[in-house]
Amino acid sequence: MKDLLRLRTSLKEEIEIILNAQCKMEAEASQKYLAMASWLDRNGFAKSAEYLYAQAEEERQHFLKIFKYITEVGGTAITPIVGEVPQEYPTFKSVFEAALQSEIAVTNAINKIVAKCREVNDYATEDFMMWYVTEQREEEKNARRALELFDLIDSESPTGKFVLDKEIAKIGEAENE
Ligand code: FEO
Repeated sequence: MKDLLRLRTSLKEEIEIILNAQCKMEAEASQKYLAMASWLDRNGFAKSAEYLYAQAEEERQHFLKIFKYITEVGGTAITPIVGEVPQEYPTFKSVFEAALQSEIAVTNAINKIVAKCREVNDYATEDFMMWYVTEQREEEKNARRALELFDLIDSESPTGKFVLDKEIAKIGEAENE
């Protein structure tokens, strides 16, 4: 039955599998950002928390976009099961270090999908994934920018914390302009 269904789509099973894996990764990224936002919020960083709440929402959109694409091209989109994500962070800065690491991991995964698409001549999916290539460039840049601010501003002093919270929030505001 599975083989008969597959005859009705040009989507190769190996591409369907890695797209579903990417759905899971994006859904996980959304959950991670949500937990980071919660940590920021409860530790007095309400403005930068808003930025990461918005990031959580963006990652959910990234997840849904791939999820719907799989169905559109005749595959089976599988609702991902997301495991535990970190809820606690040692410092204000460590939240943004984790965010950058997460974005780099997503970029690497997307690059692997594009490489696989080329290998199996799936140009439609490659074309679809180019949106993510561009998006990741932006997301990594923003994550690096947040960390750069920690190099410029003392995150240990109360004034520094206040300024950092405001400045990090501006990264999100600039993104939505
Ligand atoms: Fe959709 Fe930032 O990974």
